[in-house]
Amino acid sequence: MDWDKKGWRGKPRVQMPTYGNLDELASVESSLEALPPLVFAGEVRNLREQLAKVGTGEAFLLQGGDCAESFSEFSANLIRDTFKVMLQMAVVLTFGSKKPVVKIGRMAGQFAKPRSADYETINDQKLPSYRGDIINDIAPDFKSREPDPKRMLQAYTQSAASVNLLRAFSQGGFADIRQVHSWTLENTRTGSRYTQFSELAERISEALDFMEAAGVSPNNTQTLRKVDFYTSHEALLLEYEEALCRIDSLTGNPIAGSGHMIWIGDRTRDPDGAHVDFCSGVENPIGLKCGPSISKDDLVRLVQKLNPKNEMGRLTLITRFGHNKVLDYLPGLIKIVRSEGLNVVWCCDPMHGNTVKSTSGFKTRPFDHVLAEVQNSFTAHRSEGTYLGGVHFEMTGKDVTECTGGLQLIDDEDLSLRYHTACDPRLNASQSLELAFLVAEQLEK
Ligand code: PEP
Ligand code: CO
Repeated sequence: MDWDKKGWRGKPRVQMPTYGNLDELASVESSLEALPPLVFAGEVRNLREQLAKVGTGEAFLLQGGDCAESFSEFSANLIRDTFKVMLQMAVVLTFGSKKPVVKIGRMAGQFAKPRSADYETINDQKLPSYRGDIINDIAPDFKSREPDPKRMLQAYTQSAASVNLLRAFSQGGFADIRQVHSWTLENTRTGSRYTQFSELAERISEALDFMEAAGVSPNNTQTLRKVDFYTSHEALLLEYEEALCRIDSLTGNPIAGSGHMIWIGDRTRDPDGAHVDFCSGVENPIGLKCGPSISKDDLVRLVQKLNPKNEMGRLTLITRFGHNKVLDYLPGLIKIVRSEGLNVVWCCDPMHGNTVKSTSGFKTRPFDHVLAEVQNSFTAHRSEGTYLGGVHFEMTGKDVTECTGGLQLIDDEDLSLRYHTACDPRLNASQSLELAFLVAEQLEK
């Protein structure tokens, strides 16, 4: 294979910063090259195998987390709470689908953001856009908005701490299915989905009592005691990705060491561009965001480039059209993928096509539109005879008010109460759980 981890440097790139101090950039890159990878080849292969099961309809995928992780909003409790909500959602989805749920966080590395405009105006001042904490600072002044390569080191350190904690939570007893009652967050206790989840947890406890009497318990069965939890992020900042690329000593193949799964954004998926080039050469499972602007020809070229051996589990198409466009676009993409015999995992991101500006001025997403995109995606796959294998959410365990609607009836005026996101609006814990129940209803069909 003639792929080289530096090959992207000779290709057209978009959405990446232009650093002013190239010596400093080089010094950061060599520091990162000397550091251990954040994930290991064996884990990456396991995830590919599990995603292959999603692709063939034997499992379901739940991918979720912040739009953008930030340096200031970083704490063990926040990671724990988002992890708890994802465990709860996975339980609900397992009940609906009767299939194992593969869990991937948008966590431990989701720091770089593509932006629709290079500049934004804040308080009448035109400033370079914020591009995520790994690139520049969100504070609205020129100095803060300058791209700083040293931020890559802080992103690495925070990702290492996050992945360490996630490994402890998933393997160290916290995710033991016997703990199902304790995953409920204080901030979701008033919602009606809380009662529904408690009832589900009760049924699980009874089933566990029965199984224990029959000799199967978390003490003797690993899968009841531990979960596999994987990390993912958009591979946008290629200097960082290249510096963390490692060779798997077992197979000799390159692995992106920055996260288990990496994805290519809707704005950086030029088939001849830098991002596709980098992702094509690493062994990790790759996600490809597909929005309304993707052409059928580009889709086929991208799939062939990113998955030349046509292996199931290698490539996940994450579709994000918007609730009112999905039925116009998705069936056509499914048809071409099927007629070309391409093996892909289908996943629905109902967030990024449904962003609107509220009357109060905040970027938001109406819960009903998020739900409608998921429902319409299920409909499209059902009528084409394909399997919608997963969902991709921007969500948090925090009790934020960023998306409108849901049973809590958050409206435009409420958005200012707890609007904390560094980038796009996230579902809060109650809305995430509610959505999981509604997706589970679709899976039961
Ligand atoms: C994202 O996932 O945060 C994102 C920017 O998505 P997209 O590339 O689909 O717009
Ligand atoms: Co986003």
